[in-house]
Amino acid sequence: MNMSDNRLSAPSALRNRDPILAVLREALPASGTVLEIASGSGEHVIHFAKALPGLSFQPSDPAESAMASIAAWSEESGLLSILPPLQLDATAPWPVDAADAIICINMIHIAPWAAAQGLFAEAARILPPDSPLFLYGPYRRPGRPLEASNLAFDESLKARDPAWGLRDLDAVTTLAEATGFAEPEVTEMPANNLALVFRRRRVRD
Ligand SMILES: C[S@@+](CC[C@H](N)C(=O)[O-])C[C@H]1O[C@@H](n2cnc3c(N)ncnc32)[C@H](O)[C@@H]1O
Repeated sequence: MNMSDNRLSAPSALRNRDPILAVLREALPASGTVLEIASGSGEHVIHFAKALPGLSFQPSDPAESAMASIAAWSEESGLLSILPPLQLDATAPWPVDAADAIICINMIHIAPWAAAQGLFAEAARILPPDSPLFLYGPYRRPGRPLEASNLAFDESLKARDPAWGLRDLDAVTTLAEATGFAEPEVTEMPANNLALVFRRRRVRD
């Protein structure tokens, strides 16, 4: 296999893709288009598209290197259900007007809070009622000290950029409710991560 191409590889994506897939199997619709925000290397979207053939996947990322990696993995997979990657920054208006579900893995703590605000605002704009917005990552939770691994991770993120860092689950839920989503369904995941499934409220809820 020729590895001198644009494919990037994230060891964490290989570790967490199956636990995430198990939650997605329950949360995603049987058909339609899943928009992925912050696709990174693209390894997740390939794995999910192979496992969920009834769905189309629209990967995206703001970074050129990620776009090239997603396109390279996608081409190698031969899967027709993966659309070409979109260049999409969660903090700016999105170049897409419809999706049946949105997934976003390990992004809101590795970006300023404005990225979470943009994510929920734009997701609320394009998702139909009851549709899921899936988030995965580590969070701070009320009344619980951060686990040692997450504390160290939080410190390393803030050292890279003071605007980054683990988000408060309560703050994310408040943001979600203010933008038109119901309280999340929370699933404990390996390595002190959480899977959160927010559903778009009907306008009159
Ligand atoms: C830690 S990586 C996660 C990639 C992938 N989801 C995974 O779990 O392997 C974070 C990703 O967030 C993307 N990102 C950073 N800021 C963003 C923003 N404002 N909007 C969308 N994506 C962003 C980065 O380009 C990067 O690909």
